[in-house]
Amino acid sequence: MDSFVTHLECSESRERHDHDRLHGLSRAGKPLLVRYDLVAIAKAVSKDDLNRRAADMWRYRELLPMRSRDRLMSLGEARTPLIDLSADSAGHGYLLVKDEGRLPTGSFKARGMAVAVTMAKAFGVVRLAVPTAGNAGAAAAAYGARAGLDTFVFTPEDTSEVTVREIGYHGAKVFRVHGLINACAQIVRTRTQEMGWHDLSTLAEPYRIEGKKTMGLELAEQLGWALPDVIYYPTGGGTGFIGMWKAFDELEALGWIGPHRPRMVAVQTTGCAPIVRAFDDGMDHVPEPWDPVETDVPGVRVPKPLGDRLILNVVRESNGFAVAVSDEQAHATRERLARERGVHLCPEGAICYAACQADIAAGRVARDQHIVLFNTASGLKSPMPDRSRQYESGSPLTA
Ligand SMILES: Cc1ncc(COP(=O)(O)O)c(C=O)c1O
Repeated sequence: MDSFVTHLECSESRERHDHDRLHGLSRAGKPLLVRYDLVAIAKAVSKDDLNRRAADMWRYRELLPMRSRDRLMSLGEARTPLIDLSADSAGHGYLLVKDEGRLPTGSFKARGMAVAVTMAKAFGVVRLAVPTAGNAGAAAAAYGARAGLDTFVFTPEDTSEVTVREIGYHGAKVFRVHGLINACAQIVRTRTQEMGWHDLSTLAEPYRIEGKKTMGLELAEQLGWALPDVIYYPTGGGTGFIGMWKAFDELEALGWIGPHRPRMVAVQTTGCAPIVRAFDDGMDHVPEPWDPVETDVPGVRVPKPLGDRLILNVVRESNGFAVAVSDEQAHATRERLARERGVHLCPEGAICYAACQADIAAGRVARDQHIVLFNTASGLKSPMPDRSRQYESGSPLTA
Protein backbone atom coordinates (compact mmCIF):
# COMPACT_ATOMS: atom_id res chain seq x y z
CA MET A 1 0.00 0.00 0.00
CA ASP A 2 1.15 3.53 -0.71
CA SER A 3 -0.49 6.48 0.97
CA PHE A 4 -4.05 7.61 0.21
CA VAL A 5 -2.97 11.25 0.02
CA THR A 6 -4.18 12.96 -3.15
CA HIS A 7 -2.73 16.43 -2.63
CA LEU A 8 -2.04 19.26 -0.22
CA GLU A 9 -4.51 22.12 -0.20
CA CYS A 10 -4.01 25.77 0.76
CA SER A 11 -6.35 26.36 3.70
CA GLU A 12 -7.36 29.73 2.29
CA SER A 13 -7.20 29.70 -1.53
CA ARG A 14 -7.78 25.90 -1.84
CA GLU A 15 -4.97 25.83 -4.40
CA ARG A 16 -3.57 22.30 -4.86
CA HIS A 17 0.06 21.52 -4.08
CA ASP A 18 2.00 18.33 -4.85
CA HIS A 19 2.21 15.92 -1.96
CA ASP A 20 5.30 14.08 -3.13
CA ARG A 21 7.75 16.72 -2.06
CA LEU A 22 8.48 18.72 1.08
CA HIS A 23 6.41 21.84 1.70
CA GLY A 24 6.16 24.54 4.31
CA LEU A 25 3.34 27.06 3.90
CA SER A 26 1.24 27.28 0.75
CA ARG A 27 2.23 29.58 -2.11
CA ALA A 28 -0.18 32.11 -0.56
CA GLY A 29 1.72 31.85 2.74
CA LYS A 30 -1.06 29.98 4.54
CA PRO A 31 -1.19 26.58 6.27
CA LEU A 32 -1.46 23.56 3.99
CA LEU A 33 -3.94 20.76 4.71
CA VAL A 34 -3.45 17.14 3.63
CA ARG A 35 -6.29 15.71 1.50
CA TYR A 36 -7.00 12.00 1.06
CA ASP A 37 -8.93 9.78 -1.30
CA LEU A 38 -11.60 9.01 1.27
CA VAL A 39 -13.65 6.90 -1.14
CA ALA A 40 -10.66 4.59 -1.66
CA ILE A 41 -9.97 4.48 2.10
CA ALA A 42 -13.60 3.48 2.78
CA LYS A 43 -13.12 0.53 0.40
CA ALA A 44 -9.69 -0.41 1.73
CA VAL A 45 -10.35 -0.51 5.47
CA SER A 46 -13.25 -0.94 7.85
CA LYS A 47 -13.76 -0.09 11.50
CA ASP A 48 -13.51 -3.80 12.26
CA ASP A 49 -10.10 -4.03 10.60
CA LEU A 50 -8.80 -1.64 13.21
CA ASN A 51 -9.51 -4.15 15.98
CA ARG A 52 -6.71 -6.36 14.68
CA ARG A 53 -4.16 -3.56 14.97
CA ALA A 54 -2.05 -2.28 17.85
CA ALA A 55 -3.76 0.23 20.16
CA ASP A 56 -1.69 3.20 19.05
CA MET A 57 -2.00 6.21 16.74
CA TRP A 58 -0.60 4.30 13.73
CA ARG A 59 -3.70 2.09 13.61
CA TYR A 60 -5.29 4.94 11.59
CA ARG A 61 -2.50 4.74 9.03
CA GLU A 62 -4.76 5.06 5.98
CA LEU A 63 -5.70 8.52 7.29
CA LEU A 64 -2.06 9.51 7.76
CA PRO A 65 0.40 10.78 5.13
CA MET A 66 3.27 8.25 5.35
CA ARG A 67 3.92 6.01 2.36
CA SER A 68 4.57 2.29 2.81
CA ARG A 69 8.29 2.77 2.15
CA ASP A 70 8.65 5.44 4.86
CA ARG A 71 10.13 4.28 8.14
CA LEU A 72 7.92 5.27 11.07
CA MET A 73 9.64 7.38 13.69
CA SER A 74 7.80 5.88 16.61
CA LEU A 75 8.51 5.95 20.34
CA GLY A 76 5.42 3.97 21.39
CA GLU A 77 2.50 6.39 21.02
CA ALA A 78 -0.01 4.31 22.96
CA ARG A 79 -3.73 5.12 23.08
CA THR A 80 -4.36 7.60 25.89
CA PRO A 81 -7.00 6.87 28.54
CA LEU A 82 -10.26 8.65 29.28
CA ILE A 83 -10.47 9.37 33.00
CA ASP A 84 -13.94 9.75 34.45
CA LEU A 85 -14.46 12.91 36.49
CA SER A 86 -18.24 12.85 36.17
CA ALA A 87 -18.99 13.14 39.89
CA ASP A 88 -17.68 16.68 39.74
CA SER A 89 -20.04 17.72 36.96
CA ALA A 90 -22.91 17.45 39.48
CA GLY A 91 -25.38 16.45 36.77
CA HIS A 92 -26.33 13.42 34.73
CA GLY A 93 -23.80 13.88 31.97
CA TYR A 94 -20.28 12.60 31.71
CA LEU A 95 -17.11 14.52 32.19
CA LEU A 96 -14.11 12.67 30.80
CA VAL A 97 -10.50 13.79 30.68
CA LYS A 98 -8.43 12.49 27.78
CA ASP A 99 -5.03 12.24 29.38
CA GLU A 100 -2.42 13.02 26.76
CA GLY A 101 0.31 13.16 29.39
CA ARG A 102 0.88 9.42 28.86
CA LEU A 103 2.52 9.91 25.47
CA PRO A 104 6.30 9.91 24.80
CA THR A 105 7.90 13.09 26.22
CA GLY A 106 4.81 13.53 28.37
CA SER A 107 2.58 15.53 26.04
CA PHE A 108 0.26 15.45 23.04
CA LYS A 109 3.01 17.13 21.02
CA ALA A 110 4.38 13.61 20.46
CA ARG A 111 1.52 12.85 18.06
CA GLY A 112 2.28 15.75 15.74
CA MET A 113 6.03 15.40 15.88
CA ALA A 114 5.94 11.64 15.27
CA VAL A 115 4.25 12.25 11.92
CA ALA A 116 6.09 15.47 11.01
CA VAL A 117 9.52 13.97 11.73
CA THR A 118 8.61 10.74 9.92
CA MET A 119 7.76 12.81 6.84
CA ALA A 120 10.78 15.12 7.19
CA LYS A 121 13.11 12.12 7.37
CA ALA A 122 11.36 10.50 4.39
CA PHE A 123 11.90 13.66 2.34
CA GLY A 124 15.61 13.77 3.19
CA VAL A 125 15.63 16.59 5.75
CA VAL A 126 18.77 16.69 7.92
CA ARG A 127 18.12 19.70 10.18
CA LEU A 128 15.01 20.64 12.08
CA ALA A 129 14.11 23.83 13.92
CA VAL A 130 11.15 24.68 16.11
CA PRO A 131 9.96 27.59 18.26
CA THR A 132 8.17 26.23 21.29
CA ALA A 133 6.49 26.90 24.62
CA GLY A 134 8.45 23.80 25.68
CA ASN A 135 6.53 20.60 24.96
CA ALA A 136 6.80 20.76 21.17
CA GLY A 137 10.55 21.26 21.58
CA ALA A 138 10.84 18.21 23.82
CA ALA A 139 8.92 16.11 21.28
CA ALA A 140 10.95 17.50 18.35
CA ALA A 141 14.16 16.72 20.22
CA ALA A 142 13.14 13.13 21.00
CA TYR A 143 11.77 12.31 17.53
CA GLY A 144 14.67 14.19 15.94
CA ALA A 145 17.05 11.96 17.90
CA ARG A 146 15.07 8.90 16.83
CA ALA A 147 15.45 9.95 13.20
CA GLY A 148 19.12 10.92 13.57
CA LEU A 149 18.42 14.55 12.70
CA ASP A 150 20.07 17.71 13.96
CA THR A 151 17.43 19.62 15.95
CA PHE A 152 17.43 23.29 16.98
CA VAL A 153 14.93 24.45 19.59
CA PHE A 154 14.10 28.05 20.58
CA THR A 155 12.08 28.56 23.74
CA PRO A 156 11.16 31.52 26.00
CA GLU A 157 13.70 31.95 28.79
CA ASP A 158 11.14 31.19 31.52
CA THR A 159 10.24 27.76 30.08
CA SER A 160 10.08 25.10 32.77
CA GLU A 161 13.55 23.94 33.74
CA VAL A 162 12.76 20.24 33.42
CA THR A 163 11.62 20.73 29.82
CA VAL A 164 14.62 22.81 28.78
CA ARG A 165 16.93 20.18 30.22
CA GLU A 166 14.95 17.37 28.61
CA ILE A 167 15.39 19.01 25.19
CA GLY A 168 19.15 19.29 25.64
CA TYR A 169 19.33 15.77 27.06
CA HIS A 170 17.95 14.42 23.79
CA GLY A 171 20.90 16.07 22.07
CA ALA A 172 19.02 18.98 20.52
CA LYS A 173 20.57 22.44 20.54
CA VAL A 174 18.34 24.39 22.88
CA PHE A 175 18.32 28.19 23.06
CA ARG A 176 16.56 30.33 25.67
CA VAL A 177 15.14 33.45 24.05
CA HIS A 178 14.28 36.77 25.66
CA GLY A 179 10.63 37.12 24.69
CA LEU A 180 7.63 34.94 23.93
CA ILE A 181 7.02 32.20 21.37
CA ASN A 182 6.52 34.80 18.62
CA ALA A 183 10.08 36.01 19.20
CA CYS A 184 11.25 32.38 18.92
CA ALA A 185 9.18 31.91 15.76
CA GLN A 186 10.70 35.04 14.24
CA ILE A 187 14.20 33.63 14.77
CA VAL A 188 13.29 30.35 13.10
CA ARG A 189 11.55 32.09 10.21
CA THR A 190 14.39 34.48 9.46
CA ARG A 191 17.28 32.02 9.87
CA THR A 192 15.76 28.93 8.21
CA GLN A 193 17.26 29.39 4.77
CA GLU A 194 20.73 30.28 5.96
CA MET A 195 20.78 27.40 8.49
CA GLY A 196 19.26 24.79 6.16
CA TRP A 197 16.49 24.01 8.64
CA HIS A 198 13.15 22.39 8.04
CA ASP A 199 10.76 24.66 9.96
CA LEU A 200 8.51 22.63 12.28
CA SER A 201 6.61 25.66 13.64
CA THR A 202 2.92 25.12 14.34
CA LEU A 203 1.00 24.94 11.02
CA ALA A 204 4.08 26.07 9.04
CA GLU A 205 4.32 22.53 7.66
CA PRO A 206 1.36 20.23 6.89
CA TYR A 207 2.04 17.10 8.94
CA ARG A 208 1.95 17.98 12.64
CA ILE A 209 -1.76 18.61 12.26
CA GLU A 210 -2.20 15.11 10.80
CA GLY A 211 -0.56 13.57 13.85
CA LYS A 212 -2.66 15.71 16.19
CA LYS A 213 -5.73 14.64 14.25
CA THR A 214 -5.35 11.19 15.77
CA MET A 215 -6.67 12.65 19.06
CA GLY A 216 -10.03 13.00 17.33
CA LEU A 217 -9.87 9.61 15.60
CA GLU A 218 -8.94 7.89 18.84
CA LEU A 219 -11.60 9.69 20.85
CA ALA A 220 -14.33 8.70 18.38
CA GLU A 221 -13.24 5.07 18.48
CA GLN A 222 -12.98 5.03 22.28
CA LEU A 223 -16.54 6.35 22.53
CA GLY A 224 -17.87 3.59 20.23
CA TRP A 225 -17.70 5.73 17.07
CA ALA A 226 -19.67 8.53 18.64
CA LEU A 227 -18.61 12.01 19.66
CA PRO A 228 -19.27 13.91 22.88
CA ASP A 229 -21.55 16.95 23.05
CA VAL A 230 -18.76 19.35 24.03
CA ILE A 231 -14.95 19.33 23.77
CA TYR A 232 -12.80 21.70 25.85
CA TYR A 233 -9.33 22.22 24.40
CA PRO A 234 -6.51 24.53 25.58
CA THR A 235 -5.84 26.60 22.48
CA GLY A 236 -2.50 28.19 21.73
CA GLY A 237 -1.50 27.59 18.12
CA GLY A 238 -4.64 25.50 17.67
CA THR A 239 -3.17 22.50 15.85
CA GLY A 240 -5.09 19.95 17.88
CA PHE A 241 -8.31 21.94 17.69
CA ILE A 242 -8.16 22.23 13.91
CA GLY A 243 -6.83 18.69 13.54
CA MET A 244 -9.67 17.10 15.50
CA TRP A 245 -12.29 18.94 13.47
CA LYS A 246 -10.62 17.68 10.29
CA ALA A 247 -10.63 14.16 11.73
CA PHE A 248 -14.39 14.32 12.38
CA ASP A 249 -15.07 15.41 8.79
CA GLU A 250 -12.94 12.58 7.45
CA LEU A 251 -14.65 10.02 9.69
CA GLU A 252 -18.07 11.15 8.52
CA ALA A 253 -16.96 10.97 4.88
CA LEU A 254 -15.86 7.38 5.53
CA GLY A 255 -19.28 6.64 7.02
CA TRP A 256 -17.73 5.72 10.38
CA ILE A 257 -19.60 8.39 12.34
CA GLY A 258 -22.83 10.30 11.75
CA PRO A 259 -23.32 14.07 11.49
CA HIS A 260 -23.38 14.76 15.26
CA ARG A 261 -20.53 17.11 16.16
CA PRO A 262 -19.33 18.38 19.52
CA ARG A 263 -19.40 22.06 20.33
CA MET A 264 -15.72 22.95 20.24
CA VAL A 265 -14.62 25.24 23.07
CA ALA A 266 -11.29 27.04 22.71
CA VAL A 267 -9.92 27.72 26.20
CA GLN A 268 -7.35 30.42 26.94
CA THR A 269 -6.34 32.52 29.95
CA THR A 270 -7.41 36.08 30.74
CA GLY A 271 -3.76 37.16 30.39
CA CYS A 272 -3.57 36.01 26.74
CA ALA A 273 -6.93 35.50 25.05
CA PRO A 274 -6.68 36.58 21.40
CA ILE A 275 -9.12 33.93 20.19
CA VAL A 276 -11.66 34.73 22.92
CA ARG A 277 -11.53 38.45 22.08
CA ALA A 278 -11.82 37.83 18.34
CA PHE A 279 -14.73 35.44 18.88
CA ASP A 280 -16.55 37.85 21.21
CA ASP A 281 -15.97 40.71 18.74
CA GLY A 282 -17.45 38.66 15.88
CA MET A 283 -14.13 38.62 13.99
CA ASP A 284 -13.02 35.81 11.66
CA HIS A 285 -9.35 36.43 12.50
CA VAL A 286 -7.15 37.94 15.22
CA PRO A 287 -6.51 41.53 14.04
CA GLU A 288 -3.75 42.43 16.53
CA PRO A 289 -1.42 40.34 18.66
CA TRP A 290 -2.49 40.18 22.33
CA ASP A 291 -0.40 42.69 24.29
CA PRO A 292 0.76 42.64 27.04
CA VAL A 293 0.83 38.89 27.55
CA GLU A 294 0.37 38.20 31.26
CA THR A 295 -0.07 34.50 31.86
CA ASP A 296 2.19 31.75 33.09
CA VAL A 297 0.24 28.95 31.39
CA PRO A 298 2.81 28.30 28.65
CA GLY A 299 0.78 26.38 26.06
CA VAL A 300 -1.69 29.22 25.52
CA ARG A 301 0.84 32.06 25.50
CA VAL A 302 0.43 32.68 21.76
CA PRO A 303 -0.41 36.35 21.06
CA LYS A 304 -1.51 35.79 17.44
CA PRO A 305 -1.77 32.24 16.15
CA LEU A 306 -0.96 31.57 12.50
CA GLY A 307 -4.11 29.44 12.26
CA ASP A 308 -6.42 32.11 13.75
CA ARG A 309 -8.97 31.89 10.91
CA LEU A 310 -9.05 28.11 11.03
CA ILE A 311 -9.53 28.08 14.81
CA LEU A 312 -12.34 30.65 14.73
CA ASN A 313 -13.98 28.81 11.87
CA VAL A 314 -14.08 25.59 13.91
CA VAL A 315 -15.51 27.43 16.93
CA ARG A 316 -18.33 28.92 14.83
CA GLU A 317 -19.05 25.89 12.63
CA SER A 318 -19.37 23.72 15.71
CA ASN A 319 -21.64 26.20 17.48
CA GLY A 320 -18.94 26.33 20.13
CA PHE A 321 -17.38 29.30 21.90
CA ALA A 322 -14.11 30.60 23.28
CA VAL A 323 -13.55 31.26 26.94
CA ALA A 324 -10.76 32.42 29.26
CA VAL A 325 -10.00 31.69 32.91
CA SER A 326 -7.45 33.35 35.17
CA ASP A 327 -4.06 31.88 36.04
CA GLU A 328 -5.19 31.81 39.69
CA GLN A 329 -8.19 29.66 38.77
CA ALA A 330 -5.92 27.39 36.73
CA HIS A 331 -3.43 26.80 39.52
CA ALA A 332 -6.07 26.37 42.23
CA THR A 333 -7.96 23.90 40.03
CA ARG A 334 -4.82 21.93 39.23
CA GLU A 335 -3.91 21.52 42.87
CA ARG A 336 -7.47 20.76 43.98
CA LEU A 337 -7.87 17.96 41.44
CA ALA A 338 -4.50 16.49 42.36
CA ARG A 339 -5.42 16.53 46.07
CA GLU A 340 -9.06 15.56 45.93
CA ARG A 341 -9.31 13.34 42.86
CA GLY A 342 -5.76 12.05 42.36
CA VAL A 343 -5.69 13.48 38.83
CA HIS A 344 -2.65 15.63 38.14
CA LEU A 345 -3.43 17.88 35.19
CA CYS A 346 -1.01 20.23 33.50
CA PRO A 347 -1.94 23.94 33.80
CA GLU A 348 -3.39 23.81 30.26
CA GLY A 349 -5.63 20.87 31.22
CA ALA A 350 -6.60 22.69 34.39
CA ILE A 351 -7.87 25.75 32.48
CA CYS A 352 -10.20 23.43 30.56
CA TYR A 353 -11.53 21.95 33.76
CA ALA A 354 -11.98 25.38 35.40
CA ALA A 355 -13.71 26.75 32.29
CA CYS A 356 -16.02 23.77 32.04
CA GLN A 357 -17.09 24.03 35.69
CA ALA A 358 -17.74 27.76 35.29
CA ASP A 359 -19.75 27.20 32.10
CA ILE A 360 -21.90 24.51 33.73
CA ALA A 361 -22.51 26.77 36.75
CA ALA A 362 -23.46 29.66 34.44
CA GLY A 363 -25.76 27.48 32.34
CA ARG A 364 -23.68 28.00 29.17
CA VAL A 365 -23.33 24.21 29.02
CA ALA A 366 -26.17 22.01 30.26
CA ARG A 367 -25.49 19.63 33.16
CA ASP A 368 -26.60 16.56 31.23
CA GLN A 369 -24.06 17.05 28.44
CA HIS A 370 -21.35 14.56 27.60
CA ILE A 371 -18.12 16.57 27.93
CA VAL A 372 -14.54 15.65 27.06
CA LEU A 373 -11.66 17.86 28.04
CA PHE A 374 -8.06 17.49 26.99
CA ASN A 375 -5.23 17.26 29.44
CA THR A 376 -2.51 17.97 26.94
CA ALA A 377 0.54 17.12 29.06
CA SER A 378 1.62 15.37 32.21
CA GLY A 379 1.33 17.52 35.32
CA LEU A 380 4.83 16.36 36.20
CA LYS A 381 6.34 18.62 33.54
CA SER A 382 5.13 21.81 35.26
CA PRO A 383 6.48 23.34 38.47
CA MET A 384 4.90 22.31 41.77
CA PRO A 385 5.19 24.15 45.08
CA ASP A 386 7.30 22.39 47.70
CA ARG A 387 4.93 21.11 50.41
CA SER A 388 7.55 19.14 52.33
CA ARG A 389 8.58 19.77 55.93
CA GLN A 390 11.87 19.06 57.63
CA TYR A 391 11.80 16.13 60.07
CA GLU A 392 14.35 15.45 62.77
CA SER A 393 14.50 11.81 63.79
CA GLY A 394 12.55 11.13 67.02
CA SER A 395 10.73 14.46 67.08
CA PRO A 396 6.91 14.40 67.60
CA LEU A 397 4.72 14.16 64.48
CA THR A 398 1.74 16.40 64.05
CA ALA A 399 -1.09 15.63 61.64
C1 LIG B 1 0.54 21.45 27.36
C2 LIG B 1 0.05 22.24 26.17
N1 LIG B 1 -1.27 22.40 26.01
C3 LIG B 1 -1.77 23.10 24.96
C4 LIG B 1 -0.93 23.69 24.02
C5 LIG B 1 -1.55 24.41 22.86
O1 LIG B 1 -1.64 23.52 21.80
P1 LIG B 1 -2.13 23.90 20.35
O2 LIG B 1 -0.95 24.45 19.62
O3 LIG B 1 -2.63 22.63 19.72
O4 LIG B 1 -3.22 24.92 20.49
C6 LIG B 1 0.45 23.53 24.14
C7 LIG B 1 1.36 24.12 23.14
O5 LIG B 1 2.46 24.49 23.43
C8 LIG B 1 0.95 22.78 25.24
O6 LIG B 1 2.28 22.57 25.41
